[in-house]
Amino acid sequence: MTPRERLPPWYEYKRLLNGREVLIRPIRQEDAEVLRAGFGLLYPEEIRQRFLYAIKELTPEAAARLVRPDPEREFALVVSEPLPPGEALIGAVARVAIAPEKREAEFAILVSHFISGMGLGRHLMLRLVRWAKRKQLDRLYGDVLEHNTAMLGLAESVGFHRQIADTPGLVRVTLDLAQQGAAETGATGASTAET
Ligand SMILES: CC(C)(COP(=O)(O)OP(=O)(O)OC[C@H]1O[C@@H](n2cnc3c(N)ncnc32)[C@H](O)[C@@H]1OP(=O)(O)O)[C@@H](O)C(=O)NCCC(=O)NCCS
Repeated sequence: MTPRERLPPWYEYKRLLNGREVLIRPIRQEDAEVLRAGFGLLYPEEIRQRFLYAIKELTPEAAARLVRPDPEREFALVVSEPLPPGEALIGAVARVAIAPEKREAEFAILVSHFISGMGLGRHLMLRLVRWAKRKQLDRLYGDVLEHNTAMLGLAESVGFHRQIADTPGLVRVTLDLAQQGAAETGATGASTAET
């Protein structure tokens, strides 16, 4: 068995369409500074689509919070270079957080333009769905800007349904996990085969 076959849970290598290899893994505390540095390379629009408002920088406090998910109720994956944490550039972050006192969780995802359009958004979404199912949650949801066609298309292709959000300009996309039966790792719908 090679070391790669003995990867820790939620670790996986993936070769992208452009030939580049990435490591998908849980976020680590060492990622904080790299995330802050990489934030400056993002387009304002992708930041706004992820956070739903404009942010100029990822503060040290926000980065510290992001890299220390509460193991009971939060989970975050990154797509990184296959290098040690702290050295490896981070190209995407997908996180999910269980709402207090509820059996539902909110997701948020950002695949930077450097590696978008190569299937990572879908792959990460399916991993978040898997995590939420393992937590036996009823629902996974996210709030998306109404003109964010990429995210709305991705969510729909994974089986999410659109709802009117409380805030104007936002669409809430929801995946009913309870309806999906006991298939612990399964994705949803016809086009959602697990990769
Ligand atoms: C939305 C986002 C996560 C998509 O990531 P990605 O890695 O490019 O997505 P994928 O390559 O896996 O594409 C999956 C599906 O998304 C949809 N999609 C992706 N890019 C799209 C685009 N530019 N226009 C329309 N649909 C698009 C399609 O349905 C696509 O399926 P297909 O390839 O079978 O057509 C990424 O563009 C992103 O991070 N945007 C900025 C932040 C954001 O919008 N976050 C969402 C708020 S929670």
